[in-house]
Amino acid sequence: MKLFKFVNMLIPFNKPYMTGNELDYIRLAHHNLRLAGDGEFTKKSQEMIASSLSAKGSAFLTHSCTAALEIAAIATNIKPGDEIIMPSFTFVSTANAFVLRGGIPIFVDIRPDTQNINEDLIENAISKKTRAIVPVHYAGVSCEMDKIKKIAKDNDLFLIEDAAQGYLSKYKNNYLGTIGDYGALSFHETKNIISGEGGSILVNHPSNLKKIEVIREKGTNRSGFFRGEVAKYTWKNIGSSFLPSEITAAFLCAQIEKGLEITKNRENTWRQYHQQLESLEESGLLKRPVIPKECLSNSHIYYVVLDNKIDRERTLEAMNNKGVNAVSHYVPLHSSPAGKKFGKFSGSMNITNRQANSLIRLPLWVGMSNNEINHVVRVLKNSIKI
Ligand SMILES: Cc1ncc(COP(=O)(O)O)c(C=O)c1O
Repeated sequence: MKLFKFVNMLIPFNKPYMTGNELDYIRLAHHNLRLAGDGEFTKKSQEMIASSLSAKGSAFLTHSCTAALEIAAIATNIKPGDEIIMPSFTFVSTANAFVLRGGIPIFVDIRPDTQNINEDLIENAISKKTRAIVPVHYAGVSCEMDKIKKIAKDNDLFLIEDAAQGYLSKYKNNYLGTIGDYGALSFHETKNIISGEGGSILVNHPSNLKKIEVIREKGTNRSGFFRGEVAKYTWKNIGSSFLPSEITAAFLCAQIEKGLEITKNRENTWRQYHQQLESLEESGLLKRPVIPKECLSNSHIYYVVLDNKIDRERTLEAMNNKGVNAVSHYVPLHSSPAGKKFGKFSGSMNITNRQANSLIRLPLWVGMSNNEINHVVRVLKNSIKI
């Protein structure tokens, strides 16, 4: 078979990290002749996710964070016309999962320090039709969850955390994804812990477990059937095929086992960037990311926000021409064709627009050498274009 040849950047934005056990575990799944979902590796990885997050409820493996959000939208019974509050500075799936059910995303502006939804603007966005708040923990740094949780409780709204980037990050004493009613994690190849494509839904109230099992298994009670609870499984409710195969779960098990080492290695790179870019912040050329004192970050992304006078596109182009694959991030959803068609925004989107046009993510992957980190910083310094 002819394999694709990739053109390698000198320093790519991301390099998926392999722990070394992935293929052994996949071989075991192959040996066990169990390849479809919900076998031993799925069970094991679900237990490991839940225990690594000290979760009160359970984790279900899904084929993506997108799937986890779609499950949450079905589980919260989002109906046409229901409104869901979320930031615009996020990935498509945060909104699309609810639009699939006829929901209307209500976009709220972000904070300039963390790029997370501005908790002080949420109450203004609430109407009689609001059903849920979906905070997105950007770069693995938590939103202001005490305030957001209180707003959700006072207004009887579901709280669904988009913790795609937040595995092993914390807000105060709680891991991200375990604070709301549901939490959605991603194990996509670009995340800290990976399985190619992959995700998990954290179900934080035990009373919802059975409902999620049915939605995740094509709307059937197949999971109950496998436990011997029913003689035949049948169609119980709407759902879809949201579970990954054992091959994916086997790969993921190897990754979760090394979760803390992976996070520590990323943290080391994150800190080096942070120290070395202090002088650029002092000279007013950029702002470095802020981690509020309540938050423990998993160092998922290192980004900088360039000052207004700097041309982000020319800066990125110059960096990439020098072999450093720095990248921008989300196109705000309120400005996208589908966002305009399906969503609305509450208040101004000034901070979202400004940050989205000025933010640069730097290469960050497990195993980056000091030389590589120094090189990225040097290239950034030399590439800043006014
Ligand atoms: C905030 C956010 N939510 C959801 C997703 C979707 O994750 P997945 O690719 O696992 O479906 C992403 C992907 O990067 C994301 O950044």
